[in-house]
Order: sequence, then structure tokens, then C-alpha cells
Amino acid sequence: MAKLSLLLLLELLIFFTPSLSCPEYQKQALLNFKASLINSTTTTSTEGQRVLLFESWNSSSDCCNWERVNCSSSLGSRTVIALYLNDLVDQLPREHTVLTSNILTPLFHIRSLTHLNVSKNKIQGELPSDGFANLTELISLDLGSNDFFGFIPSQLFQLRYLQYLDMSSNNFHDIPKEIGNMTELRHLQFLDLSKNHLEGMFPQWLAEMEVGFIILSGNKLTGSLPPSLFNSTYLNILSLSQNKFYGQLPSNIGNATYLMSLMLNDNNFSGKIPESISNLRTLTLLDLSKNKFSGNSLPDFSSNIWPQIIDLSSNEFSGEISTNFSILTRVLSLGKNKFSGIMSTNLNNMRQLECLDIHDNKITGEFPDFICQISTLRILNLRNNSFQGSIHDCISNLTSLQILDLSNNRLVGKIPAKFGNFTGMIKTSNESVGDVIGFMTTSFSFQGKINDLILNWKKSTQGLSWKNLNIYSLLDLSMNQLSGEIPTTLDSLKALKTFNVSHNNLYGRIPASLGDLLNLESLDLSHNNLSGSIPQELAKLQQLSILDVSNNKLAGRIPGGSQMDTMNDPNFYANNSGLCGMQIRVPCPEDFSPTKPPKVESKERWFSWEGVGIGYAVSFIITVGILYLAKYFVPAKPPNYHRQRRRRRI
Ligand SMILES: *[C@@H]1O[C@H](CO)[C@@H](O)[C@H](O)[C@H]1NC(C)=O
Ligand SMILES: *[C@@H]1O[C@H](CO)[C@@H](O)[C@H](O)[C@H]1NC(C)=O
Ligand SMILES: *[C@@H]1O[C@H](CO)[C@@H](O)[C@H](O)[C@H]1NC(C)=O
Ligand SMILES: *[C@@H]1O[C@H](CO)[C@@H](O)[C@H](O)[C@H]1NC(C)=O
Ligand SMILES: *[C@@H]1O[C@H](CO)[C@@H](O)[C@H](O)[C@H]1NC(C)=O
Ligand SMILES: *[C@@H]1O[C@H](CO)[C@@H](O)[C@H](O)[C@H]1NC(C)=O
Ligand SMILES: *[C@@H]1O[C@H](CO)[C@@H](O)[C@H](O)[C@H]1NC(C)=O
Ligand SMILES: *[C@@H]1O[C@H](CO)[C@@H](O)[C@H](O)[C@H]1NC(C)=O
Ligand SMILES: *[C@@H]1O[C@H](CO)[C@@H](O)[C@H](O)[C@H]1NC(C)=O
Ligand SMILES: *[C@@H]1O[C@H](CO)[C@@H](O)[C@H](O)[C@H]1NC(C)=O
Ligand SMILES: *[C@@H]1O[C@H](CO)[C@@H](O)[C@H](O)[C@H]1NC(C)=O
Ligand SMILES: *[C@@H]1O[C@H](CO)[C@@H](O)[C@H](O)[C@H]1NC(C)=O
Repeated sequence: MAKLSLLLLLELLIFFTPSLSCPEYQKQALLNFKASLINSTTTTSTEGQRVLLFESWNSSSDCCNWERVNCSSSLGSRTVIALYLNDLVDQLPREHTVLTSNILTPLFHIRSLTHLNVSKNKIQGELPSDGFANLTELISLDLGSNDFFGFIPSQLFQLRYLQYLDMSSNNFHDIPKEIGNMTELRHLQFLDLSKNHLEGMFPQWLAEMEVGFIILSGNKLTGSLPPSLFNSTYLNILSLSQNKFYGQLPSNIGNATYLMSLMLNDNNFSGKIPESISNLRTLTLLDLSKNKFSGNSLPDFSSNIWPQIIDLSSNEFSGEISTNFSILTRVLSLGKNKFSGIMSTNLNNMRQLECLDIHDNKITGEFPDFICQISTLRILNLRNNSFQGSIHDCISNLTSLQILDLSNNRLVGKIPAKFGNFTGMIKTSNESVGDVIGFMTTSFSFQGKINDLILNWKKSTQGLSWKNLNIYSLLDLSMNQLSGEIPTTLDSLKALKTFNVSHNNLYGRIPASLGDLLNLESLDLSHNNLSGSIPQELAKLQQLSILDVSNNKLAGRIPGGSQMDTMNDPNFYANNSGLCGMQIRVPCPEDFSPTKPPKVESKERWFSWEGVGIGYAVSFIITVGILYLAKYFVPAKPPNYHRQRRRRRI
């Protein structure tokens, strides 16, 4: 009997299985969506492309088998629960497609939806408010990267199962205030409203909820932060960068004991960093840069707290840097503050430090020796401080160093010959640091961006992304009182792109070996006492686009050659002791010495001068004319010939 009923059940199952397809009204809603999507593209020429996009969506098949559709697998009935309708515009003819928020209308009939992703579709218009009141089962809603505008409809805040809400990168203006009273979002864990035009204060109701990820960066929010926000032990990620928040941070910030990422950069916060921040044991990323934080002592960053990235740059911190930092810190940025005195902090236990940036402060004292022990350093930026004394040889210990900026200090003595041992500058590491740091919880992930490095690159201040750190290498010792000769050993630094020793007291000749730095793009030797001539070897530097040798005691011919010929700004050769060459429109004596007929090579150079279109002094042209008449010169070949030859040489 039992056997029989089991058989019966099986038969029943087999009989019914084919009919377990999605409900007809849901299929119809999806077909309506497809129709209005196709209707939104006004061209007919790309018929094929459209069909390709929703090929499987046809009326004769089960919509549970359609692409971008998931159904519930519960026995008895199958209903649509997930729609992945993101990135549609990329696959539609872009210039002919305007999606408006009306295309969402059919979807509001599918009340069983738990997951809806319509991100990255450039959908325009106000968000249909009534519709979302229908989708009461939603767990995850992604509306990011569209062009929705207006209010965020309060109906969204009635979705009581919602855990994930992403409305980033739209044009929303306001969060209605009454939401605080009516929010049903008891389960919300992830809220991303970044990159909108939101105004007003930090919503109090949000501060009182138990949300793990709060991302409100890139808006126009203002006011101070409600202390209750940090009473939450659910808070993992708080990103409020690029807003107009102000005031002091609440002293109870350390109550948010599971905070992993605190990004408050680019606001107007002031006052001291609350001591309680030292209780944030899980904090990994702390970015307080570009605010008005002050205080002459920093909280302890070493005993309870292990942040990997600390960026306190561009604030008004003062006093000595005496705080100890965590041994796990990889990036420490304290630049653009008012720190002074000697650096008494204990950095030598920082086994993972890759970047130490304290530029634009008033730090004094001898060049800090302990830095030589941080062998993981890839970036050391002490620019614009008051470090004195000589650069210790031990700095060659820093074999991973790729960017060394000691400019604008009071350093004396020689450039250590051991600089040639900077392995990081010989071959840059393939490891890029990556400009993002990822945070994962069981359900959600978030990426925090590390601020760009600000460096002097080719004579201007530029932000260099970490993502590309593997291709940068820079050595800047400018604006010190260094003396002695430029060491010849630097030729090993093959990866170097910028080399700047300007504004020092260097003397002697320019080493010919600099011509071996084949990746060099910028070479600044100006404002020294260098003498002799510019070595011909520099013509090997095919990447060089800036060469400044002005204000030295150089003499002789500026080397020619394809790349050298393009660097013809006279200011970069000015104030020397007799430089000549086509770049500065000054002929060299041997060019018209009657006793020495010029070689073929120099004849070519004559021509390239004309090609460059330089009108040198009339008297000089007359001299040449006379010489030409006197047949000291072989008559020149037609310009075409030369242009071809030159091109072939390149
Ligand atoms: C498609 O557009 C036409 C004209 O714009 C309109 O009449 C028709 O109802 C639209 N169809 C759908 C399914 O939206
Ligand atoms: C509908 O799509 C199914 C696959 O999902 C395909 O097997 C069938 O041939 C299609 N029918 C029509 C009429 O295109
Ligand atoms: C939808 O189906 C895919 C593939 O079977 C699965 O990876 C995904 O988790 C499903 N989504 C939901 C919300 O169940
Ligand atoms: C929605 O789709 C985009 C891809 O365009 C993806 O990056 C995003 O994570 C998806 N959202 C959710 C909640 O899975
Ligand atoms: C909500 O769903 C019902 C059917 O369940 C439908 O009649 C109604 O039009 C939907 N509301 C909106 C705004 O789409
Ligand atoms: C919230 O509700 C209370 C009473 O229930 C009311 O006094 C208050 O004004 C409401 N606040 C908002 C922002 O609507
Ligand atoms: C934080 O929580 C404590 C203890 O639950 C409570 O006494 C305090 O008032 C709360 N502070 C805020 C600002 O909500
Ligand atoms: C929150 O921080 C305040 C001040 O730091 C403290 O007095 C209070 O006990 C803390 N509350 C909780 C719940 O930890
Ligand atoms: C920052 O605050 C000061 C006053 O404390 C104000 O003058 C300034 O305009 C604010 N800056 C921004 C960008 O909001
Ligand atoms: C930093 O650490 C050193 C030794 O590791 C200790 O002597 C010093 O007091 C610490 N400084 C601070 C401000 O805690
Ligand atoms: C250089 O590095 C070695 C180990 O790599 C270390 O023992 C030594 O103390 C360092 N020298 C200086 C001066 O820091
Ligand atoms: C530094 O370079 C010199 C040669 O340039 C070499 O003899 C020496 O071993 C190198 N030292 C280190 C520590 O690599």
C-alpha cells in the first residue's frame, strides 16, 4: 500500500513537472518589459543586436529558463524571484537608446521578486514610487549608475526584508525627512547612496539603525555626525568622503567596535581625533585627509588598533610626531600638516610599511636613520621639511624604494654613491600596490580607494595613482645644499623616470653614465655649479622630454639627435658659460671655423635647423652666406631628401 502511494506520488510529480513553469502573468510582464526596451531604441538597423540581447525571452518557453531570470525552486509553484537586468545599455545601440523609468513599470507586477538589479542602464526620470510598494519581498535592490532624479520615494523604506540597497551614481536630491518615522527597513545591511546630490544632515533615523555598510560619499550633506551612529556594533564601513560635514567627531567613536573602514576625507571636520579611536580593533582603513583636524598629539595607533592605511594628510595637526603606529601599517600619510620638531616616533618596528609620506611639514633634525631599517619601503616622501645633515649611506638598505623625494630640505654633503644600489629603481616591481583595498563580509563587499600620491612629476605637481606604481620611479633631491659631484654609479637605476638634483651646490661634470638611464623622462640639473659640456650620451635618452641644465657653468655644444632636437626651450639652457647648438639658436664656433671644414654630420644638422624653422640672427645668416659663396660648404641637398633620411633614422 505504501509502495503504491509512493509510486502514485512519483507519477504525479512527473506528470506535473512540465507545468511547473513560471506564472503566465509574470511571463507577460517580462515580455512587456522586453517590448518596451526594444521600443526605446529608435533604430531599425540593429534588429539583430536587440534580438540577441533577449533571445531566450519568447512566449513559447518557460520564463524560468530565460537568461537573466531566476525562479524559486520550491515545490508546487515556481515564481520569478531574481532579475539581473543590469548593463543593458552597453548592449543596445547607444546613441539611439533612451531608457526612461517607465520601462520598469511591467516589473512591478512580479510581486515575488527578491533580487532586482537594473544598475548601469542610464535610465532617466523619477523613480516610480507606487511600483516599489508592490515589491514587498525584495531583499536586494540595485538601482546604481542610472540617471534617476528627484526624491528617494518613501515606499522604498517600507520594504521590510530589504538588506541591500544601492542607489549610487544617480541624481537623487533628497531623502524625505518623514522616512525616519516610517522606515520598515529592519534588515538593511548595505546602503549606498554615494555620488548623488543629496542635501541636508546625516539622517538621524539611519544613525539609529543597525546598518553594516553606510556609503554616502560624494554628496552635499552637511552638519555634524550624530553620536548614536557610533553606538552601533553593526557598523563595518562608513564612507562619508566628499561632503560638507563639519564639527568634531563624536567622542564615542570607539564604541563602533567592528568598524573596518572609516573614510571621512574631503569634508570640513575639525578638532582632535577622539582618543577612543584607539579602541577600533578591526579598523583597517582610516582616511581623515583634507579636513581641518588639529591637535598636537595623535591618539595611540599601535597597541589596540592595527590599521593598514592611515591617511591624515592635508589637515592642521601640529606638534612632534611621537605617536607609535601599528606594525601592520602599509601606508602612512601625514603630509600637508603643521607637524614640527624632530620625528621621535618609533617606526622601526613597522615591518610592512610601504609608503611613508610626511611632505609639507616643518620637521627638523638629522636625516632619520631608523628609516634605513624599514626595508619594505617603496615610497619615501620627506619633501618640504627642514631635515638637516647628510643623507646616510644606510639608505641604500631600502632596496624596494621606487620613489624617493627629499627635495626642499636642508640636506648637506654628497649624494651617496650607494644610491646606485636602489634595486627598486633598477627594476620596478611588477607588484602594483593597487589603489583599492577590499572589504568582505559574508554577504557584502566594498572597495575603499587609497588617495593618489602627490609628487612633482615633470616640473608640475601631479597625482599618481597607486594602481600604476609598478611603472613609476622617481629620485628628487632638489632644493637642498648638496655638494660634490653627481656619482657615476647612478647609471644602474635603469627604471628611473624622473631625476631631479636642481638647486644644490653640485659641481664637476655631468656623468656620461646618465645616458644609460634609458627610461628617463625628466632630468633636471639646473641651479648647480656643473661644468664641462653636456655629454653626447644623453642623446641616447629616447624618452627624455624635459632636460633643464640652466644656471650652471656648462659650455660647448648641446648634443643633437632626434630627441635632443625637440628640447629647445632656451630657458632650460640659460645662464651657463657658453653653450651652443641649434636648440638655443647659438652656433658653435666649429660650425663656421674657416680652417676646419664641417663633417657630413654637421651638414645634416644645418638642415635640421632650418627644418625646425628657426630664424637665427641675420648677421649669422650673412656669415653663412659668405662662407657658402666661398665654397667652404658643400651645397645642400633638397629638403625632401633630408626629411626622409631623418625619419628613417628614428
Ligand atoms: C512602442 O512605441 C509606440 C510609439 O512610440 C507605442 O504606440 C507603443 O505602445 C509602444 N509599445 C510598447 C510595448 O511600449
Ligand atoms: C524560444 O526559446 C527557446 C529556448 O529558450 C527555444 O528553444 C525556442 O526555439 C524558442 N522559440 C521560438 C519561437 O523562438
Ligand atoms: C540565480 O541563479 C544563479 C545560477 O544558477 C545563481 O548563481 C544565483 O545565486 C541565483 N540567484 C538567486 C538570488 O538565487
Ligand atoms: C548588479 O550588477 C552589477 C553589474 O553591472 C554588479 O556590479 C552588481 O554587483 C550587481 N548588484 C548586486 C546587488 O549583485
Ligand atoms: C501592483 O501589482 C498589482 C498586481 O498584483 C497590479 O495590479 C498593480 O498594477 C501593481 N502596481 C503597480 C504600480 O504596478
Ligand atoms: C515622527 O512622529 C512623531 C509622532 O509620532 C512626530 O511628532 C514627528 O514630528 C515625526 N517626525 C517626522 C520627521 O515626521
Ligand atoms: C549609546 O549607548 C549607551 C548604552 O547603551 C547609551 O547610554 C547612550 O546614551 C547611547 N548614546 C547615544 C548617543 O545614543
Ligand atoms: C560609548 O562611549 C561612551 C563614551 O566613550 C561610553 O561612556 C559608553 O559607555 C559607551 N557605550 C557603549 C555601549 O559602549
Ligand atoms: C568649512 O568651515 C569653515 C568655518 O569653520 C567655513 O568658513 C568654510 O566655508 C567651510 N568650508 C566648506 C568647504 O564647507
Ligand atoms: C613608542 O614606542 C617606544 C618603544 O617602542 C616607547 O618608548 C615610546 O614611549 C612609545 N611612544 C608613545 C608615544 O607611546
Ligand atoms: C640594513 O639592513 C640590515 C638588514 O637588512 C640591518 O641589519 C641593518 O641594521 C640595516 N642598516 C641600518 C643602518 O639600518
Ligand atoms: C652595491 O653596488 C655595488 C656595485 O655597484 C656592489 O659591489 C655592492 O655589492 C652593492 N651592495 C649591495 C648591498 O647590493
